Amino acid sequence: MSQVRIILGLESSCDDTAAALVRHVPMSKSVILSSVVLGQTDLHAAFGGVVPEIAARAHAEKLDHCVEAALAQAGLSLSDIDAIAVTAGPGLIGGVVSGVMCAKGLSLALDVPLYGVNHLAGHALTPRLTDNVAFPFLMLLVSGGHCQYLMLYGPDEFSRLGGTIDDAPGEAFDKVARLIGLSQPGGPAIEHAAHSGDPARFAFPRPLLDRDDCDLSFSGLKTAVLRVRDTLIAAQGGLTASDQADLAAGFQAAVVDVLAEKTRRAFRQYPQGVPRTLCVAGGVAANQAIRAGLETVSAEMEATFVAPPLALCTDNAAMIAFAAGEQMQTRAADDLTLSARPRWPLDQQQPSMLGSGKKGAKA
Ligand code: KG4
Ligand code: ZN
Repeated sequence: MSQVRIILGLESSCDDTAAALVRHVPMSKSVILSSVVLGQTDLHAAFGGVVPEIAARAHAEKLDHCVEAALAQAGLSLSDIDAIAVTAGPGLIGGVVSGVMCAKGLSLALDVPLYGVNHLAGHALTPRLTDNVAFPFLMLLVSGGHCQYLMLYGPDEFSRLGGTIDDAPGEAFDKVARLIGLSQPGGPAIEHAAHSGDPARFAFPRPLLDRDDCDLSFSGLKTAVLRVRDTLIAAQGGLTASDQADLAAGFQAAVVDVLAEKTRRAFRQYPQGVPRTLCVAGGVAANQAIRAGLETVSAEMEATFVAPPLALCTDNAAMIAFAAGEQMQTRAADDLTLSARPRWPLDQQQPSMLGSGKKGAKA
């Protein structure tokens, strides 16, 4: 059970095809031997979003090249692999099926165990890979498709404290950027524009702060930006660069405030008498203002703040290989009946979030 293993991870749940090799060392620091991520941005650019059929086909075409590249980067061959880990959900079903089929083929051919991994568990366990963070810890997962607070008690023990009831924050950044005429992906464009903007010029709402829980909502904030934009356009015929900057700054400030306050509330559910750690993962974790807000809350709560490097915050296969290594200690391998799951809540005890998984694409 507690031996060192070389694990091949595969990830294909959205628009990144990824393979990675991880040397998993139980109870100690694991090592990423290689990590290859082939994006599909160009394939979807003309459609304004990820097209599931195009994504699935691209995954099926790229997965074996990705595995070859990961082996070459690590200087290993197929015979060195001790186990195969694959994202088995949640995500776009065609992509997940491509990964699961590839993983089953490799597991059968190499006669090594197969582990189906929850993509969100991959993100959530990453701070253990990068920073050896001890259980329990609090995780805020903020990406283009997901937003939730989780308490992690073990490799397969997750408690969801709350999450978005509509849009994920990354999705809101992307939509607001589109509304105010900034480029995609919207997160970096808004962050850049916000630098020169006045966050106080427009009074945007801080949704759901009246509710004493950790649930979030970003859809009304997006509509508030739309209304102000329309008023400005009606009055002056268009938006100036300084209007764009002020709208971006006002929107970003609202997101920062909401995430900071909801994080304070999440800390109320932290078990007593143990060291506290707040971790963040997902593409939105790249935002410096959001990071600064979370760091401030961590300091207030006497918690350590951990944000893995961006390449490991966004979709990758090293997190999938590592999660399987962690879970091997507590659960049995899957077999060839492993199926792809478009929806797969991490916390099976909680009812589904209202509207969660609606977009189903990114995690
Ligand atoms: O985790 P990710 O790479 O993909 C998934 O959603 O799985 O996250 C992508 C999202 C996009 O919505 C993008 O706009 C957002 O992360 N993002 C940011 C920033 N960089 C990326 N949002 C806010 N500020 C940023 N600097
Ligand atoms: Zn993800």
